[in-house]
Amino acid sequence: MQHLITGRARSFEMLRVLPQWPDRLIEPGLYLHVPFCKTLCPYCPYNRVPYAEDLFAAYERAVKQEIDLYAPYLKGRSFNCLYIGGGTPTVNWPGLIAILRHLRKAIGDIGDMCVELHPGAMGGDCLAALKDIGVTRVSIGVESTSDVWLHRIGRSHDGPAGLAAVARALSMGFASVNVDLLFALPGQHLEDWTRDVRRVIALGVDQLSTYPLFTFAYSQVGQKRKIHKVKRPPHRVVKAMLDFTDQYCQAKGFRRCAVWSWLKPGKAKFSSVTRHHYVGFGPSAASMTGTHFYVNTFDVRAYAGALPAGRPVALSMPINRRLERAFWLYWRMYELTVKHQDFLAVFGAGETLDALFGWMLKPLVAVGMMVHTQEGYQVTGRGAYWIHRLQNAYSLAYIDHLWGACRRHPWPQAVTL
Ligand SMILES: C[S@@+](CC[C@H](N)C(=O)[O-])C[C@H]1O[C@@H](n2cnc3c(N)ncnc32)[C@H](O)[C@@H]1O
Ligand code: SF4
Repeated sequence: MQHLITGRARSFEMLRVLPQWPDRLIEPGLYLHVPFCKTLCPYCPYNRVPYAEDLFAAYERAVKQEIDLYAPYLKGRSFNCLYIGGGTPTVNWPGLIAILRHLRKAIGDIGDMCVELHPGAMGGDCLAALKDIGVTRVSIGVESTSDVWLHRIGRSHDGPAGLAAVARALSMGFASVNVDLLFALPGQHLEDWTRDVRRVIALGVDQLSTYPLFTFAYSQVGQKRKIHKVKRPPHRVVKAMLDFTDQYCQAKGFRRCAVWSWLKPGKAKFSSVTRHHYVGFGPSAASMTGTHFYVNTFDVRAYAGALPAGRPVALSMPINRRLERAFWLYWRMYELTVKHQDFLAVFGAGETLDALFGWMLKPLVAVGMMVHTQEGYQVTGRGAYWIHRLQNAYSLAYIDHLWGACRRHPWPQAVTL
């Protein structure tokens, strides 16, 4: 990422400094983090703790207070989407519905709502309540369709339960249903993977997202290397897995909408981190506001204790003009399409994509990683593979470092990225 911004290596410092309020938002999205799960998967890098009723009650109270603090800056605005992630957002679904009602009352209409679902926490009542409150897109963590692999990675559900959960969500009539699958699991063969992809597509899903298993140093797996007894597949197998997914999904009428996702035409995309600006609520929620990038404390009790007196921000970093544009470009490349018109719509006239980033985009075209289109640039299949490698490296270097520090201490003094 740093090369993208300056053309040379540079580090960034996030400090324990309160950022400016979000008063310069462009096309903002909202994020809500629900940091609880019934069982904790050993490979999981996300901020989550075992579900406990009293801790959830403290969280629910605090998140409503955090929303109230931000309401003067957000009320009456239009939002691109509210993304609800976790943890397992529906671990206590009546509590989630109460938070969403509060959010609507405090801020107004919030447009599309997207929720991450776990196959073990999405019964009929829960799905009906989500539909009723206005959830439009859901994503289900199926991860694998095989009991053997689910057991090896320490999931709490089996293959049939994952598939049944998808069928249940599809029957509810949400505007879009995405399924997450994990690949590049230690010891996984291409045949295991092709079976997973075929089974999920056959269910009639609207979108498929496939993530290579990351092993973050601070995760349980990273520390104990529990599922590392068997080696991760070599790069050529990982590449073959991605190539198969791309060819199979295209043959079934899907188009690639991001490095790791394929979508049915006409369907709304389920995606989390790619909005231009966003404001996050809840422990560990990040915000990108145009003036700052910041993260809330990861510790649920520290988060609840900080409210309502102050903002629960742990670390922040000012965002300058060039850095903001580099973030925008990074996520557009992850989504495989970079359009002049989109750049103009977000940043206005006065500067152009080529003037700012031509030095990097043109060589990528020259080596076949991107092509020129009438609208701008398109990442090729070859380019997508290298962005997949870059995204792996970015996740491991930046996220591991920042999230690792925030998990060690509720209020770290500084983190250098
Ligand atoms: C927060 S989870 C989804 C909701 C729910 N908690 C669940 O697990 O089903 C979001 C997604 O992140 C992905 N994920 C989790 N840990 C991962 C890891 N170590 N590497 C890559 N992807 C991971 C999984 O595909 C998972 O579905
Ligand atoms: S993968 Fe999902 S269910 Fe498992 S611990 Fe992470 S957030 Fe919880």
